[in-house]
Amino acid sequence: PVIYRADYQPPDWRVETVSLEFDLDLSATEVHATLGIVRNGDHDRAVRLDCDGALPQTLAVDGQPVNWRQEGSRIAFDVQGERAIVTLSTRIAPDTNTQLMGLFASNGMLCTQCEAEGFRRIIPFVDRPDNMSVYEVLLRADKSRFPVLLSNGALVESGDLDGGRHYARWRDPHPKPSYLFALVAGDLVATRDSFTTKSGTHVDLAIFVRAGDEGRTAHAMQALKASMAWDERVYGLEYDLPVFNIVAVSDFNMGAMENKGLNIFNSRYILADPDTATDYDYDAIEGVVAHEYFHNWSGNRVTCRDWFQLSLKEGFTVYRDQCFSADMGSEAVKRIEDVRMLRAAQFPEDAGPLAHPIRPDSYMEISNFYTSTVYNKGAEVIRMMATMAGPERFRAGCDLYFARHDGEAATCEDFVRAMEEGAGLDLGQFRRWYEQAGTPQVQARLEHDAATGTATLHLRQNFTPTPGQPAKPLMPIPLRTALIDRDMKAHRGEMLVVLTEAEQALSFTGYARAPVLSINRGFSAPVNLDVARASGDLPFLVRHDDDPFARYEALQQLVIDRLIADIADMDGPGAAQGHAVSLDEIIAVFGDLVSDQRLDDSMRAEILSLPTEAFLGEQMLIVRPEAIHVARKSLRKAIGSRLLNQWRIVHERASSVPYSLSREARGARKIKSLALGYIASAEAGDAAMVAFDQFARADNMTDRQGALAVLASMQADQRETALDSFYNRYQGNALVIDKWFSLQTGSAHPRVHEQMLELIRHKDFTLTNPNRVRALYWPFVSNQAVFHEASGRGYELLTDLVLKLDPLNPQTTARFIAPLGRWRRFDEARAAKMRDCLERILAQPGLSKDVTEQVVKSLE
Ligand code: ARG
Ligand code: ZN
Repeated sequence: PVIYRADYQPPDWRVETVSLEFDLDLSATEVHATLGIVRNGDHDRAVRLDCDGALPQTLAVDGQPVNWRQEGSRIAFDVQGERAIVTLSTRIAPDTNTQLMGLFASNGMLCTQCEAEGFRRIIPFVDRPDNMSVYEVLLRADKSRFPVLLSNGALVESGDLDGGRHYARWRDPHPKPSYLFALVAGDLVATRDSFTTKSGTHVDLAIFVRAGDEGRTAHAMQALKASMAWDERVYGLEYDLPVFNIVAVSDFNMGAMENKGLNIFNSRYILADPDTATDYDYDAIEGVVAHEYFHNWSGNRVTCRDWFQLSLKEGFTVYRDQCFSADMGSEAVKRIEDVRMLRAAQFPEDAGPLAHPIRPDSYMEISNFYTSTVYNKGAEVIRMMATMAGPERFRAGCDLYFARHDGEAATCEDFVRAMEEGAGLDLGQFRRWYEQAGTPQVQARLEHDAATGTATLHLRQNFTPTPGQPAKPLMPIPLRTALIDRDMKAHRGEMLVVLTEAEQALSFTGYARAPVLSINRGFSAPVNLDVARASGDLPFLVRHDDDPFARYEALQQLVIDRLIADIADMDGPGAAQGHAVSLDEIIAVFGDLVSDQRLDDSMRAEILSLPTEAFLGEQMLIVRPEAIHVARKSLRKAIGSRLLNQWRIVHERASSVPYSLSREARGARKIKSLALGYIASAEAGDAAMVAFDQFARADNMTDRQGALAVLASMQADQRETALDSFYNRYQGNALVIDKWFSLQTGSAHPRVHEQMLELIRHKDFTLTNPNRVRALYWPFVSNQAVFHEASGRGYELLTDLVLKLDPLNPQTTARFIAPLGRWRRFDEARAAKMRDCLERILAQPGLSKDVTEQVVKSLE
């Protein structure tokens, strides 16, 4: 059952109007639909409606009952004439919907998730994004249990009914695909505000949460208003309805959903106050609120023709939310975070068995393609166009795209063409970024001729094959580049070098001394870069590059080179090759940066963080989990102990900054916990005391969690005391208890595996809440040394989860296959164990399509 992009056909019948009536109830909801359908094109084919678990109880065409037949996952019936009114009804049980797709129950409330193919679980429908309809929705429910009744668009009327029931009628004037339909019914409390658009339209804003959570919505509301203003200012795009509602739910498969006028959020991306949310949580909320709001244009007003085009809305919207967050905070820090995330999640995907282009060519289950590739690499592809065009021309390309395709279901090709015409770019070769999977490799080398004062930049691109794509044509790779004068410690201006050939050389004159190459500044292209450098160049860049990302990158590379050399040395002296700088030099660079006045604390903390073990693993052909763990730990210890006094000074200085959300105070909190981590790594005798002190005195979650994360990795009495006090303090607050689980399974404590076994049996662990499942298991599988313990028991634990969770929630389960799918990157003993686990999963009777697709591809 593989679906191919090349097979696209428009629908045979379109649904123009939809009228829905719901009699809502947790265990038995009745749905009646009236569909105005139109034959699409000159054909005599039957009407076919997608259907998943909700077969029609009644079905009539123009008032006459008709016989329908089942064809796989569709129902079919014949209609004469060009148009008809189809009426049908279903009966569904939201409280047994553990998949959380379609209409489901969460803590006594009812809500929907329809993207990508959830609407068909409510009623049979032309459930594809190129079918756009105008919706009217009538909701009826018990008034005391469901006092709030919401759907898309605007409320038209509401009132009481007999038997303690009430109703609300909603109408959305904008034609939309079914994946943007939403309804919510429950006992919820609203925080209200308003926004006036630049053309003067008043918009009522509301965020609905469970009673007791209303004190934690202010930041999300602030982010919403800032997003609305930003989209007007930066893209000229205004909101288009009189109401914008947001609802927070605690059982949700993903982050949030951009339903027209009624965004539904995982509560973790709405609820925040200083006592329960970290600065990082605050940023995530701001970013996701913006992301969903921006979808109103990039996604809803212009939607996707088919799901292969998903990156059209997701890549673009991620790019938009990244730029928004950069504007709200620090551009440099935001860029580093985004690149770190891309490298942690997307590069491995691109290098493994599940690699796919940002516009895939085929899929079995579309839910498996809400990937870091489609989202984050998709955003990088948009960013490259923006870089090549410059801000004004990029905006002109976007303007043309929105003007030309407003109200349409468009394709990635439509976007590229609008960008070509509007921005005046030739994107002929660039289209390959949509077609090819895999991370390009770029080699760079600067050659210097002292006699002529010429510096020549040699560039070369290479590709490794990915599944189904053995050979790859050349890509255009835009590299922001500068040549930094060694004496002046400055450059003559940054250039954009676009590498379009297999090999290219560019010469620059007037360099008596060889300059230092600063390339892929700002991470202008999502590539793996290999620069041939003289030793000493990286420390120079760390100290003097004016591009903050390039400084960060130089230090990361310096550390990676050293660690890779240390790991090679474990095989015997002299095994290490290359020109890694000495430990002394690394300590000296760190020492400079700890007190560098040009850095703000947030950037300082970013630069001074060591690459994760998993990221180091990615740099090796065959990952060596123990060696990486040992080498990184010993480098951390050296940096901690040899700079101990400096870390103590920083920690004390930062501890004296009072809590606020100012940039300075946030930076202080970030460097504070980083310094604490190094103090602990130094194994300073008082480290546990210092950490416990930070924990006990904390008046905010950032400091408290920062200290607890350090304690969780220590073998000290204070560890249990702090974990228990944290648990007791926040018992009943699901989002914070999630943190309590994650801190333990993501720690570097020697007994994480045993703790994991206890936590699986903990009374607060449940398989039915995706946040809780991810909180427990995701840090565990990302904890490389633990998950990849040679015994293989980490793999077994994950396999047990997959087998238990799949029958309940295939979509969330399928996300856990990729870690096992990386078996080719491990030694034969581990690889065999990982493959065994994949085989054990595949042998499970009734395995979901979601998990099957990922496992089969991982074994191929
Ligand atoms: N469109 C949503 C967003 O990115 C995510 C929907 C995810 N759907 C899914 N089936 N995984 O904002
Ligand atoms: Zn999105």
